Amino acid sequence: MDFLPKYRAEIDRALLEFFARTKFPEKKFAAALRHAVLLGGKRIRPLLGLLAFESAKNSKTKITRAKVIRILLSLELIHAFSLVHDDLPAMDDDTLRRGRPTVWCKFGEANAILAGDALVLLAFQNLAENAPTELLPQLTQILARASGGMIVGQFRDLDLSKNNSLANILKTHSEKTGELISAAVQLGALLASADSAQTKLLKNYATKLGLAFQIKDDLLDALGDPKILGKKVGKDVGKKGFVKILGIPKSQKKLTELTRAAIRISQKLKAPRLAQLAEFVLKREQ
Ligand code: IPE
Ligand code: IPE
Ligand code: MG
Ligand code: MG
Ligand code: MG
Repeated sequence: MDFLPKYRAEIDRALLEFFARTKFPEKKFAAALRHAVLLGGKRIRPLLGLLAFESAKNSKTKITRAKVIRILLSLELIHAFSLVHDDLPAMDDDTLRRGRPTVWCKFGEANAILAGDALVLLAFQNLAENAPTELLPQLTQILARASGGMIVGQFRDLDLSKNNSLANILKTHSEKTGELISAAVQLGALLASADSAQTKLLKNYATKLGLAFQIKDDLLDALGDPKILGKKVGKDVGKKGFVKILGIPKSQKKLTELTRAAIRISQKLKAPRLAQLAEFVLKREQ
């Protein structure tokens, strides 16, 4: 498992470099963006993209690993945007994220809305600045479609008129969390010039991992330690989410099944690190 902190540190370094080379005319606004992106975070999405790239790399791969990391930062910028807006009073109304005040609490609600807006645009700016020209249209499509899918999932999550059925929650999870996780492997596979069989396996892996990731998030909301998690718990219990519908034991069972399925696909891909990532998602406490 020791590659995880190492890879995370590489991604963190690349994010710092991104902020160092990007000029922001307003100091306070730059501080809000840095707060949203740089202070903590597991970096699961770029990490997954990088692992997908490494597992699919072959003689046709033209791009360097360092460039791939730079491109994958766009996923983390979109993810940060989703969290900044997710915490807003009109959405989940959360005051704590990654052990710190949420962006709206520290910088004000209007600035948090603007920070989220800016992060989306920065994600696409970063992609355009770093992607190989011939791949830019496809990479842009993957990122834009997944971001749109995530937003629809957030809409569905908040839509109280929707019944809390298992089918609806599965759809919501696959959109609000699954879409960006799927985009990670799609970007990695495309950058590696993976063949279609490999890309398909990677997408199947991401479907399992994405659902496992959100079920674990819901379980941590019910059982986790807020000091370790760095965010409030008990937000969804009795209201929405997997645990509300299936209860804790069945949710845990589903999480274990999904992890096993993801590990089986990793074995087919001969990618032990993808198996380790699935184990990490199963066991994470943060
Ligand atoms: C939290 O995502 C929101 C979900 C989609 C479950 P993460 O758990 O990846 O958050 P950070 O980036 O590590 O803080
Ligand atoms: C958030 O789900 C999903 C996105 C931000 C897209 P949650 O609302 O459950 O995430 P947390 O628990 O606040 O991190
Ligand atoms: Mg939410
Ligand atoms: Mg939330
Ligand atoms: Mg949650």
